[in-house]
Amino acid sequence: MEYPKIEAYVLKNFGINLTAYKSKQLIRRLENFMQRTGAKDEHDFVNMLSKDEQLSKKFLDHLTINVTEFFRNKELFLDLEKKIKDMLNPDKNTLKIWSAACSTGAEPYTLAIIMDRLTPNKKHNILATDIDFKILEQAKQGIYNKNDIKNVDSNLLSKYFIQKDDKYYISDEIKKRVEFKRHDLILDRYESGFDLIVCRNVVIYFTPETKNEIYKKFYAALKPGGLLFVGATESIYNYRELGFEKASTFIYRKPGGN
Ligand SMILES: C[S@@+](CC[C@H](N)C(=O)[O-])C[C@H]1O[C@@H](n2cnc3c(N)ncnc32)[C@H](O)[C@@H]1O
Repeated sequence: MEYPKIEAYVLKNFGINLTAYKSKQLIRRLENFMQRTGAKDEHDFVNMLSKDEQLSKKFLDHLTINVTEFFRNKELFLDLEKKIKDMLNPDKNTLKIWSAACSTGAEPYTLAIIMDRLTPNKKHNILATDIDFKILEQAKQGIYNKNDIKNVDSNLLSKYFIQKDDKYYISDEIKKRVEFKRHDLILDRYESGFDLIVCRNVVIYFTPETKNEIYKKFYAALKPGGLLFVGATESIYNYRELGFEKASTFIYRKPGGN
């Protein structure tokens, strides 16, 4: 890393270990931001961050890239819905689901909507985590704008959202089905016993080694028969080596189960 002082600041203040992120991309983002502040060098920049809480928060936003939306790559979510349907059986207990790196909550709420559609009134266990504590506060509020909900069908929109002015509020019924927690995919322990893990549009920022470690931990965290759903540019080429079988282009299954 070319900026050890910034790296140390980010680890100490945000708990984020930048060494595991792809460096070229990260350095470009970091330099863009630093230049805009007018800082002379990294020492100057870290000084500015330490004195200005707002700037420090903006920097965290810039680093973590929180872009998301409901039903992101809609056709893939429809495919996922079919796969979940196949997993469900009438006597089966509730499913344990994890939206890892959930950003503003659009992804875990999408999963809660899908589960409500498939099994009305059944309470599944949906965990949603992200490294960015600020974005988790926003996710708990569940307030969205038009762009976030552009892939939501009008019947789902009227059932699961309340519109006020130009904002869309996720219904309390859906909101209470998701539990938000801070979790770092690189540094923290993983829970286990998941039927479904959704992890999309975050491993693209990690080095190949880090990405591979994360996929190994997801494998261990899944139940036999459990599914891993990844982003639309994130096919796992070595899925066999990791122990997975392919359920479809962006969905992998841990063998076993019934
Ligand atoms: C582009 S968003 C993806 C949101 C959602 N999964 C989607 O596909 O729409 C990436 C998210 O990853 C989070 N993130 C970055 N590094 C992380 C890490 N080490 N552990 C957990 N989350 C991380 C960011 O805070 C951000 O909210």
